[in-house]
Amino acid sequence: MTLAEVLNGAVDYLAARGIDTPRLDAELLIARALGLQRIELYTQHDRPLTEGERARARELVRRRGAREPLAYVLGDWDFRRLTLKTDERALVPRPETEIVVERCLALLDGTAEPRIVDVGTGTGAIALALKHERPDARVTATDQSAGALTLAQENARTNALEVEFVQTDLLDGLAGPFELVVSNPPYVAADELASLEPELAHEPEDALVDRGQTQRLIETARFGWLVLEVHEERAHDIAAELSRVGFADVRVSQDLAGRDRIVEGRWIP
Ligand SMILES: C[S@@+](CC[C@H](N)C(=O)[O-])C[C@H]1O[C@@H](n2cnc3c(N)ncnc32)[C@H](O)[C@@H]1O
Repeated sequence: MTLAEVLNGAVDYLAARGIDTPRLDAELLIARALGLQRIELYTQHDRPLTEGERARARELVRRRGAREPLAYVLGDWDFRRLTLKTDERALVPRPETEIVVERCLALLDGTAEPRIVDVGTGTGAIALALKHERPDARVTATDQSAGALTLAQENARTNALEVEFVQTDLLDGLAGPFELVVSNPPYVAADELASLEPELAHEPEDALVDRGQTQRLIETARFGWLVLEVHEERAHDIAAELSRVGFADVRVSQDLAGRDRIVEGRWIP
């Protein structure tokens, strides 16, 4: 079979399994299986594949067809200017979280050597992107999941970024002070999970299901800026809660799709 035949077969296979972007996914997976750039899939379209190449492509496409997240099947994912290793130990970093990083950078503008803590770091996405884009920052990252922290440490090493990692519940045991506490805490309601896309079943439940982490952070984060990624339907309630407990300069920002997804406020002792 030629490369074009294998690619077209993969597109049909993924489309039949409900993948929204079957051609894009098929191209990325087959390019990865063959060690090619996407453009080379077309410049080499009539090349016959070896049995080994077909087996590698088939395995990646099969996994995606079983609705494993594309980032897990590829094994890495781009987040801002970094490439992060991604697997089932941690949530796949989402595009809206890149906007969270942008808000943090804007709030820290003009603050030299800011001390930052990323609560529930997962792959390390927020902490590592902030360290990368603000090399003078002192960044700590926490997670309660040992697996996520190991993955985040691997990502720090691969990207040559120095971040302190702490296994703890939210901010427990951290002395601070910090100029910024940032978090993308789990915010899916437990009874909502089953109705969402099947890919979520592959991600750690502890990274998805809201067990009151946002509320506890609002009650315990008492340093500088607090920036939270939130469920779009809860943004205004959470903003009101920040104001109620005494945060100033409370603001809601939108993601690229215009949804209210980021809430920030400043703690003034
Ligand atoms: C939605 S994921 C976010 C991961 C990453 N920050 C990102 O934006 O891609 C939430 C993370 O919080 C961690 N987590 C959940 N509850 C926690 C807690 N009580 N203390 C610390 N980390 C927690 C989970 O293990 C998971 O890695």
